[in-house]
Amino acid sequence: MSDIINVETNLAINFEHIYVGYGKKTILYDINLQIKKGNMVAVIGNSGAGKSTGIRCMTAQIIPQNGKAYTSGISVKNREDVQGMIGYVPQLEYVSLYYDFNAIQNALFFGRNYGIKDEIIKQRCQEIMEILGLSQKEFLKKKIKLLSGGERKRVSIMIGLISNPEILFLDEPTTGLDPHLRIEVLNFLHKINKKYGTTIMIVSHDLECVDYCDQVIVFSEGVLVDSRKPRNCVESLPNKGFGYEITFEELSIEQEEILSSIKKLIYFLHIGRNKFKLFVNSNTDFVEIVQILIQKGFKIKKYNKMDSTFLDYFRIMSKYKYPAISTKMKHDAKIKQPKLNGEN
Ligand SMILES: Nc1ncnc2c1ncn2[C@@H]1O[C@H](COP(=O)(O)OP(=O)(O)OP(=O)(O)O)[C@@H](O)[C@H]1O
Ligand SMILES: [Mg+2]
Repeated sequence: MSDIINVETNLAINFEHIYVGYGKKTILYDINLQIKKGNMVAVIGNSGAGKSTGIRCMTAQIIPQNGKAYTSGISVKNREDVQGMIGYVPQLEYVSLYYDFNAIQNALFFGRNYGIKDEIIKQRCQEIMEILGLSQKEFLKKKIKLLSGGERKRVSIMIGLISNPEILFLDEPTTGLDPHLRIEVLNFLHKINKKYGTTIMIVSHDLECVDYCDQVIVFSEGVLVDSRKPRNCVESLPNKGFGYEITFEELSIEQEEILSSIKKLIYFLHIGRNKFKLFVNSNTDFVEIVQILIQKGFKIKKYNKMDSTFLDYFRIMSKYKYPAISTKMKHDAKIKQPKLNGEN
């Protein structure tokens, strides 16, 4: 493979043994990641796990310490070429928008930077704002500082798309929006993905975005611990993700500890005030568990079998699996890491 161009690929992102950090400090260890062009991808993980660092490397804002990283087939070492092919919507709109300009003026400012003609910029601005549900003239001519948070977010997404990028990266596009708008923004991004075939990468703590995505990637403590279709994640749980939601009359703190001692309970999650979700193997009859619970003094109000969501999966993995997986992966990656330039 050439060091600069990775032509034969239909991959939007191709990372091979990537280590990324700041100065000599490494934050991401031995990342191997392939993302197909045209996919919509959720990038998730706890705070400090390395999501933004990963996105900064994909968008050529930082160059990896080791390994090969290609975005849209171009090595991220070629910052200008990579950045000419992508759109980036930062978490905070004031970084990407001029508040004294209106939406059209912002579009013209950023579009001209890409050498696009004014007529095309205006046409594109109108078209994207229509998909985003904000194409009325009076809105497009209002200064950004007079718009609501959700309206600014949509202008910021329009600016990210003004150059017709192959890939759009969005850092926390739904954070701080009301529940209705959070879903609307995801609906808009989905439409853009379908209409233009734009690859979309969404960094988010709001896990409802996973529902819209073809692929979910999970960072934990600087390593990549999952990269799969969301449905495959859920189906990897016991019983293909079917668990039992159980509501108790009341609960004491000790009762959670008692649940931990029941061997046939593979996993349990506290999902509401007096409510748990319990997972057993497919060969365990749940009635056995119910009897054990009654013997141990639990007062059961009701229970029923239910499918799981990605949130259930993520919570289970974070509680039972990711910590050990990431410690092992990071340990192995440190042993393999080539020495950095100038390091003894
Ligand atoms: N510019 C920087 N210089 C040095 N260390 C940094 C820098 N930016 C981030 N880090 C460190 O890298 C680690 C990963 O940070 P990163 O911002 O990638 O996490 P994140 O997953 O995006 O977290 P969050 O969900 O809170 O945004 C953290 O320990 C952070 O302190
Ligand atoms: Mg971040």
